[in-house]
Amino acid sequence: MDAQHCKMNGDSFQESTYTEEPSNKNGVISLIFSLKEEVGALAKVLRTFEEKGINLTHIESRPSRLNKDEYEFFINLEGKNVPALDKIIKSLRNDIGVTVHELSRTKKKDTVPWFPRSIQELDRFANQILSYGAELDADHPGFKDPVYRARRKEFADIAYNYRHGQPIPRVTYTEEEKKTWGTVFRELKNLYPTHACYEHNHVFPLLEKYCGYREDNIPQLEDVSKFLQTCTGFRLRPVAGLLSSRDFLAGLAFRVFHSTQYIRHASKPMYTPEPDICHELLGHVPLFADPSFAQFSQEIGLASLGAPDDFIEKLATVYWFTVEFGLCKEGDSLKAYGAGLLSSFGELQYCLSGKPEIRPLVLENTSVQKYSVTEFQPTYFVAESFNDAKEKLRKFAQTIPRPFSVRYNPYTQRIEVLDNAKQLKNLADTINSEMGILCNALQKIK
Ligand SMILES: [Fe+2]
Repeated sequence: MDAQHCKMNGDSFQESTYTEEPSNKNGVISLIFSLKEEVGALAKVLRTFEEKGINLTHIESRPSRLNKDEYEFFINLEGKNVPALDKIIKSLRNDIGVTVHELSRTKKKDTVPWFPRSIQELDRFANQILSYGAELDADHPGFKDPVYRARRKEFADIAYNYRHGQPIPRVTYTEEEKKTWGTVFRELKNLYPTHACYEHNHVFPLLEKYCGYREDNIPQLEDVSKFLQTCTGFRLRPVAGLLSSRDFLAGLAFRVFHSTQYIRHASKPMYTPEPDICHELLGHVPLFADPSFAQFSQEIGLASLGAPDDFIEKLATVYWFTVEFGLCKEGDSLKAYGAGLLSSFGELQYCLSGKPEIRPLVLENTSVQKYSVTEFQPTYFVAESFNDAKEKLRKFAQTIPRPFSVRYNPYTQRIEVLDNAKQLKNLADTINSEMGILCNALQKIK
C-alpha cells in the first residue's frame, strides 16, 4: 500500500482518498520512537520537545511489535528549528535511552537518502510504516465495527511479521468477505472487455485458470505472487500499513509490489477509502504480468533510489497518472490500464466517457500535474505504449540529480550502483587509449 492512494469502486460515488505522505512537506518531520511501558515515560519525552519549543502536530501510539513491554509512538512535528531537534533526538537516545527512528527529513543538501541495495533489505520497511493497518479513520466504513477492526489487525500482523523469502501466509476468508469480493469481481469483469487495455484482458483468463480468480473465491497472494514471478519476475509482499512514497517506489526497483491482503468493509462493497485486495488483485496484478508494463514500473522504482525528495514527489505523481490512473492508445480508441481505474466501477466508465480532459503522457508535465484527491480525475494522461512510457521514464530519470546510476541485477537481486564520475573517467581512459592506438597505426602507414 503506497502513501499515494487510492480511489475505489463506486457506481455513483465521486470521491476518493489520497493520503499524503506526512513527511518533510511544509517543514513537517515524522519520527517513530519506542518507550518502555512505565508511568510518566511519555510525559518525560514530550516535555523535552516542549522545552525546546518544538511543536507536535500529530501523535499516534501502538504496542511495539518488537518488544512486548514497549510502546511505539509516531509523531509529526514542525521542523522549523532543526538544530534544536537534533539536540532533542540526541538527548532522547543518549540520556533517556529512547529508540528513535527518523522517517524522513533532508539533513544536508548533498546527502543521498538511504535506499535498499538488496531485496532482503525491503524487510526494513515493515518497521517504518506510517500507520498500522488496523488504525481506521473515523469516516472509514468499518470504524465502528469491532469485528472488522480485529480482522484488520490480523492482516496487519501477518504483514508486519513477514520477511522476504517466506511464503505469504494463506488466509481463510469468511463467507462475508467472499461475498464482498464476488460483488466487486462480477461488476468489474463485465466492464473489462470494453474498457480495459489489451494486456489486462489477455492476462485475466490466465489468472482465472491458474490463480483461482473466481466470483466465489478470493485468490491467495502467495499463488498470485508465484504466477507473477513466472511471468515477469514481479512478486507481491504483504504490507502492514501505509508506506512512504520513497519506500513504496523502492520496492518496484526490485520488482516487488507491496500489497494489501484484507478486503473492504462489507457494508459498502463498491467503495473503499484505501487500497484493498480487490484493488490489488483486479487492478494491479494483471498488468504486472505483462513484460513491458513490468519494465516500465521497475524503471519508476529505479529512478527513485537515492533521489531527492522533490523528485520522489514527481515520480510518485508519474506513478499516480500511469500505474494508478493511466490510459493507453489502442488503435483509434483509448483503454484503461491504471489500477485505480480497473478496480473502480464508477471511474472506469467515467474515464472513457469523453468528459475528462485527455492529455499525452509527457513526463515533464505529468510529473508536476496537480490532481484531485477527493473526486474522479479531471485529467488523464495517455501513453502511446508501455515501451514508449518506459523510454520516457529513462530519459526523465537522467534529469534526477544523482552522482550515480543504478541497475538491477536479477540474478543476485541486488542494485548495482555505478559512480558517474568513475564511469566518465573510464570512458575517457578508453578513448585516450584507443586514440593512441589509432595514432600509432597512422604513423606506421605514413
Ligand atoms: Fe494501487
